[in-house]
Amino acid sequence: MAKELIRLSDCTMSFDGEVVLDGINLYINDEEFLTLLGPSGCGKTTTLRIIGGFLTPTSGDVLFDGVRINSVPPHKRTINTVFQKYALFPHLNVYENIAFGLRIPKTDASGHKARLPEGEIDQRVMEMLEIVNLRGFEKRRITQLSGGQQQRVAIARALVNRPRVLLLDEPLGALDLKLRKDMQNELKRIQKAMGITFIYVTHDQEEALAMSDTVVVMDGGKIQQIGTPEDIYNEPKNAFVADFIGESNILDGIMRQDGVVELFNRRFQCLDKGFEKDEAVDVVIRPEDIDIVPEDQGQLRGTVTSVTFKGMQYDIIVDFYGFKWLIQTTDLSPVGSRIGIKIDPDGIHVMRKSQYSGMFGDYSSYSEEYEEISDANYGPEGEGSGDEE
Ligand SMILES: Nc1ncnc2c1ncn2[C@@H]1O[C@H](COP(=O)(O)OP(=O)(O)O)[C@@H](O)[C@H]1O
Ligand SMILES: [Mg+2]
Repeated sequence: MAKELIRLSDCTMSFDGEVVLDGINLYINDEEFLTLLGPSGCGKTTTLRIIGGFLTPTSGDVLFDGVRINSVPPHKRTINTVFQKYALFPHLNVYENIAFGLRIPKTDASGHKARLPEGEIDQRVMEMLEIVNLRGFEKRRITQLSGGQQQRVAIARALVNRPRVLLLDEPLGALDLKLRKDMQNELKRIQKAMGITFIYVTHDQEEALAMSDTVVVMDGGKIQQIGTPEDIYNEPKNAFVADFIGESNILDGIMRQDGVVELFNRRFQCLDKGFEKDEAVDVVIRPEDIDIVPEDQGQLRGTVTSVTFKGMQYDIIVDFYGFKWLIQTTDLSPVGSRIGIKIDPDGIHVMRKSQYSGMFGDYSSYSEEYEEISDANYGPEGEGSGDEE
């Protein structure tokens, strides 16, 4: 399973002197489901096109099974692509759309053009119809299919040639939410059933977490972090990743010693270590990791400034010394109430400062009352001090 199949080594891509991919280093294992995740314009499609052979990197190497393939054209790579616009043939039925690639004569080692026997084509098409759950739809015209069914045909057509790798560029973007969730499970199932490496592109973090073995978070043409969905969520490397994946309160802190971080002049136990003494850091606290307690028992005390009912929980915004936190809780604390909070050591995650420090993680924009409440209670002598230990 964990055998390396593809490697991008120091890949850079420039268009007209503008760098859009900057020093990409990445390997993809055989049979892995790897997702490139990031905001629009970060370089996901460009990375995919380099892997597919539609672009040659300006510098750096692309390796397949350890062999450099920079200048190998797409049709000579055992890699297929599913595009967002499915590009099916509208005048052909489902069966013929899937069979299309199999009917193209292949040149064998001795230079002869050979066609697959009709029997084998039929067997392979029927096998694919089974896998994508479209048995019985063989004779349907493409125009008589729903969006989800068209997507399945596109996937079957891309897989019928048995590529080692399938590239998928935002393949579910055109589908509505419910169908998208169904297709996420479906794609995952197909990938496991066929044992094919999937390289998937999306800007949807939930989709990336739900489907992937490995997530590659990108921004500004650079890889920000590579890891399992759990790694990326629980141990984000910088404020960009913490903000992009899930909801996060991101605060300025000072690492006083291993396992002790200071926020708002109060010391909190954490599990992080290996920082310089008194190093300035960014601290992530997820909204679901904050416990609400009576005001006099809190490590910090604040005022609830907004409450939104979300079905599973309430999203509440709480003002602590002018900084607005998002807390998710099943207990209702009404607007205006004073609350205390407690955070367990494993609910605190400390990150090094980065170019993204200070850009994310305050929920002020959730509340109109910011101006009124944000005046200066914050300080060592301020309210609520003395309970930090
Ligand atoms: N052929 C091209 N010529 C010039 N600029 C391009 C070309 N392709 C992509 N870009 C630029 O490269 C950047 C990354 O694009 P892309 O890889 O498509 O991003 P994503 O897929 O993450 O949205 C964007 O700024 C885009 O405008
Ligand atoms: Mg794209």
